[in-house]
Amino acid sequence: MDQASPPFAAAVPDVTAERADQRILCGDCLDLLPSLEAGSVDVVVTSPPYNLGIAYRGYRDRLAEDEYLDWMVRVAGALRRVLRPDGSFFLNIAGSPREPWLPFELIVRLRPLFVLQNHIAWVKSIAVGADSVGHFKPVAGRRFLHHNHEHIFHLTLTGDVQLDRLAVGVPFKDKSNIARRGHAQDLRCRGNTWFIPYETVQSRDAKFNHPGTFPVALPRQCIRLHGKPGATVLDPFMGTGTTLVAARLEGARGIGMEIDPSYVAVARERLGAV
Ligand SMILES: C[S@@+](CC[C@H](N)C(=O)[O-])C[C@H]1O[C@@H](n2cnc3c(N)ncnc32)[C@H](O)[C@@H]1O
Repeated sequence: MDQASPPFAAAVPDVTAERADQRILCGDCLDLLPSLEAGSVDVVVTSPPYNLGIAYRGYRDRLAEDEYLDWMVRVAGALRRVLRPDGSFFLNIAGSPREPWLPFELIVRLRPLFVLQNHIAWVKSIAVGADSVGHFKPVAGRRFLHHNHEHIFHLTLTGDVQLDRLAVGVPFKDKSNIARRGHAQDLRCRGNTWFIPYETVQSRDAKFNHPGTFPVALPRQCIRLHGKPGATVLDPFMGTGTTLVAARLEGARGIGMEIDPSYVAVARERLGAV
């Protein structure tokens, strides 16, 4: 494929294109994905609707469970086609006290399509001793604990995709490990628990009036971990464009798809500002 141009095999409605490195497509990702070339995407980072009744502007986030799972399997099949053989698909999803099985049902349904290479816990808030840091949505009542983390399922075609673990590494706590274990530098793998808090905001405006965004640092970390400079990054459920903002900051090319034109407008504005 020509590395200079995005991997579109056929004409698709490109509603933004302010800058050639990031492309935004407004529409249903199931209609848009077939227009991408097979094996043309290095990294998918996405947070689909969770089917938990979240109040999006247009999309109705409450399908019958089987209908939702069937739909997500169809989307995952379309993503499998566009992913490179050495590509990474980072799927962010969460359950709720009422729907605790949903993320696990989904990941089992995806088993015929992908290998689950890593399961990352995205920690939004944590208490260490008597201290706590980060933000979360409280769960009412006494039966359930607050939900302080979400899942990031790292799916690949083979289970053998080589990652750049040190690109998102952390310094050793015990420096004696560096020489003793023969490491070349003071960096170790961060592990599969990622503490990425939301920025502190006081209003919905500051979250772009979208009920389900993730922090820019999350897709940035996924893109860096995959570790291919100049990667093509796809988010089929782009929302306000967070993944494309991350792609630009990481020097990657981005393709975003979103069904709701009002979120597309927000994404366009955000990208103009990066
Ligand atoms: C969880 S949100 C993604 C938020 C995004 N990560 C962000 O930071 O802004 C899921 C998005 O998927 C969109 N959506 C729902 N169905 C879709 C479809 N069939 N094709 C494309 N987008 C869809 C919704 O409008 C919503 O904005």
